Amino acid sequence: MSATSPLRPVLPPDIQARKGQVPLVVLTAYTTPMARLIDAHCDIALVGDSLGMVLHGMPSTLGVTMEMMILHGRAVVRGLARAMAVIDMPWGSYGESPAQAYRNAARLMAETGAPAIKLEGGAHMAETIAFLTQRGVPVMAHIGLTPQSVNTIGGYKVVGRAGEGEAVVADAQAVAAAGAFSVVLEKVPVGLAARITQNLAIPTIGIGAGVQCDGQVLVLDDMLGMFTDFRPKFVRRYAELGKTAAEAIAAYAADVRGRRFPAPEHGFADEASKGAKP
Ligand code: KIV
Repeated sequence: MSATSPLRPVLPPDIQARKGQVPLVVLTAYTTPMARLIDAHCDIALVGDSLGMVLHGMPSTLGVTMEMMILHGRAVVRGLARAMAVIDMPWGSYGESPAQAYRNAARLMAETGAPAIKLEGGAHMAETIAFLTQRGVPVMAHIGLTPQSVNTIGGYKVVGRAGEGEAVVADAQAVAAAGAFSVVLEKVPVGLAARITQNLAIPTIGIGAGVQCDGQVLVLDDMLGMFTDFRPKFVRRYAELGKTAAEAIAAYAADVRGRRFPAPEHGFADEASKGAKP
């Protein structure tokens, strides 16, 4: 059970109030069944645009559309009773202007029922974050490695080493001052993430940013071990579901080919007997 009040659904001010308290627990969710599993244990179910890579086999998050985020966002919201859904704004839906960001954020919230959105970017997005929060759109910011900028960053690198550190600190201060209720720190060196966390008024949620953050987020499929060939350093696997699923599929295929499935108990008699299930 999460440390946020179990009596009603979690909202952005509850998350902001958790600064410096029991760490916030966040996982990605893209479907109703996974949202149901997460709901009992997590504070936030993040409908991340990572769904483009994880579910749809895209090479990056750049091809994810508003329609995809709305479809998966609705599915997740249907599966939650208490944890809060946060929906990622897809690439190209908010960078043009604060007005474009507001139009698309409002659509994401209205069409999914999620109470908050997440967008990537630090100081350069502060004006947009302020515009959104002043108009009723709670914003989770995302700084450090921002995967939608993979082409300008030059890969999925650690961001904030050596001379880059002060820029990440400035990004964190800017999004907090603009009104974000929390900020994701992705692939930020642990010392820097700890310093930012100590000096920031809003909760930091780390992914590859060390244990001192105010919370942690992982991609659900990574921590469940769905991929046998993808092992980022910052992920701890809590299961090996990919291996288990592959073994189950192989056993099913062998049973079908060997006529061991279906067995008599999986079939229906020609005549219905009294009391038998239809
Ligand atoms: O899209 C996503 O899943 C994310 C998390 C990794 C923070 O942004």
